[in-house]
Amino acid sequence: MNGPNESANALELRGMSKSFGALAALSDIELSVGPGERRAVLGSNGAGKTTLFNCITGDFPPSEGSIRFFGEDITRFPPHERIRRGLRRTYQISLLFTGLSVIDNVYLSCLGVSRGRFSFLRPRRNDALVSSAEELTQRVNLWDERDTIVSDLSYGQQRQLEIAMALSGAPRFILFDEPAAGLSPTERRELVEILTNLPSHMGYIIIEHDMDVALRVSDYVTMMHNGRIFKEGKPAEIEEDPEVQALYLGGDGH
Ligand SMILES: Nc1ncnc2c1ncn2[C@@H]1O[C@H](COP(=O)(O)OP(=O)(O)O)[C@@H](O)[C@H]1O
Ligand SMILES: [Mg+2]
Repeated sequence: MNGPNESANALELRGMSKSFGALAALSDIELSVGPGERRAVLGSNGAGKTTLFNCITGDFPPSEGSIRFFGEDITRFPPHERIRRGLRRTYQISLLFTGLSVIDNVYLSCLGVSRGRFSFLRPRRNDALVSSAEELTQRVNLWDERDTIVSDLSYGQQRQLEIAMALSGAPRFILFDEPAAGLSPTERRELVEILTNLPSHMGYIIIEHDMDVALRVSDYVTMMHNGRIFKEGKPAEIEEDPEVQALYLGGDGH
């Protein structure tokens, strides 16, 4: 089948590799994620998790292999063409407009993904985008902070805002890069709630170092090490796996 296909997997990676000079950051990745599926990717620092996201989004296209998104081959598509097809991501490093309010950040994000559909000459705010921005601000529990300037938010609230922005324009699939990093236990609980309450058709991959968070927000887990996938399974299987436990608790120096 050549064209886009709604019944196809959300993501299908075949033989995907990525090298930076002599360094093989990813080697021969085979990964299938079904529509609406929630997948956790775990692995130590330098395992290649963020590089996996960069290949999927097109920020750094793969050196080898192919990527299908809902059946369509997007391997050579520029990032904006992938966004247009409903792919979103968050970054490990924040990309917020820190001098603007919460609601303005979400609004700009909604405007960004809708570009082309509205005239830039129109000076008035677009009502549909304003209500989307309001809905997303509520969804991530930032309604009471909607007029707060982003630099005055707590770190955890800034991460929640990033999630709202990733949800703009009704995505079909989202890549979350360590959204729980640096969060307090209370903020972690809120994050888990936000993720588990996303509409069920909205699939995602979450890179997560905290095993507890990862296992609670995913249907299936992929383990990476040294640029390779070395194990996949249901959260309960992964939790009990001796090899995984050795890698996580044994500290092998990587
Ligand atoms: N843009 C880049 N240029 C050169 N090397 C990179 C680049 N991005 C990542 N790497 C290297 O690729 C490997 C995997 O990195 P990364 O995907 O960031 O790992 P993770 O997110 O699992 O911690 C590391 O050795 C890292 O130094
Ligand atoms: Mg990373």
